[in-house]
Amino acid sequence: MRVRMTGSMDGKVVIITGAGGGLGRAEALLFGDEGARVVVNDVGGDRSGMGEDASRAELVAATIRERGGQAVAHHGSVASREDVDALFAVAVREFGRVDVLVNNAGILRDRTLLKLDDAEWAAVLGVHLTGTFLCTQAAAKQMISQGGGGRIVNTTSVSGMLGNFGQSNYAAAKAGIYGFTRTAAIELQKHRITVNALAPIAKTRMTEDLPMFHGKESMTPEHVAPAALFLGSDLAGDRTGFVLAVSGSRMYAFKVVETDGRFKEGGQPWTAAEIAENWESIVRAR
Ligand code: NAI
Repeated sequence: MRVRMTGSMDGKVVIITGAGGGLGRAEALLFGDEGARVVVNDVGGDRSGMGEDASRAELVAATIRERGGQAVAHHGSVASREDVDALFAVAVREFGRVDVLVNNAGILRDRTLLKLDDAEWAAVLGVHLTGTFLCTQAAAKQMISQGGGGRIVNTTSVSGMLGNFGQSNYAAAKAGIYGFTRTAAIELQKHRITVNALAPIAKTRMTEDLPMFHGKESMTPEHVAPAALFLGSDLAGDRTGFVLAVSGSRMYAFKVVETDGRFKEGGQPWTAAEIAENWESIVRAR
């Protein structure tokens, strides 16, 4: 089946991590349909990151080719520098360059804070936060070696932006991706590399057992993929450092709010009691 859309990504080389299923798969198919040459990365583990299955990435790459596109698979882990080096080597060997990176790979090890063990903390931080760092650094170096220009799309979450019960490891990783995105956007601007993040909500194997998705097919990975395409395409212009949120047909954004606050007359330090007394005017939004 040949699927051809607008060709907005013709000639571009796109790496998408964790693209063997869920959101990454939908993003990879859309980029492929738009003419991008796609490197489909996925280690192929279960939802908690256990196990490996190379066939998941292979299958998505094969699907892109069946639809008339170009794709190769890579099944290393984004949490390993060695595997990330190999991922970028595959992209350069097969397609000659890297124009877009979508950091999407992720796992869940939900546990309340009091029960969370060191391994559950480290595994989640490793895939989401270290994985995003390793891939972004490799992409930026490659893009700069090509003369600059490029687009990086990270994946944060509502949990990271607002907090969520039972997800202190995941929320910390996703909030870390927010801070990382803001800083990378500032540092890479002079190289004409935009760095933005998505905050999606969609029914995938990661979320299918949440009550909010029961009986609902209105929040799909296909609702999210166009937002990744937008941030990874020239339609995004020079927009950088944004968090674009998608939940079904709702498209919105997350922003950190800094309040006007208050100055104490005379420039003296506030006392703790004065902070208590003036709390409402200190934290009130503009
Ligand atoms: P998913 O479980 O279907 O997809 C995640 C993919 O990442 C899997 O195919 C998995 O094999 C792969 N992966 C895991 N560890 C990896 C590693 N070390 N190296 C390479 N690949 C690895 O889940 P979903 O929902 O598609 O999640 C995609 C991203 O979106 C994740 O970063 C997730 O945290 C984020 N997200 C998803 C939300 C949702 O509502 N589905 C909400 C907020 C964020």
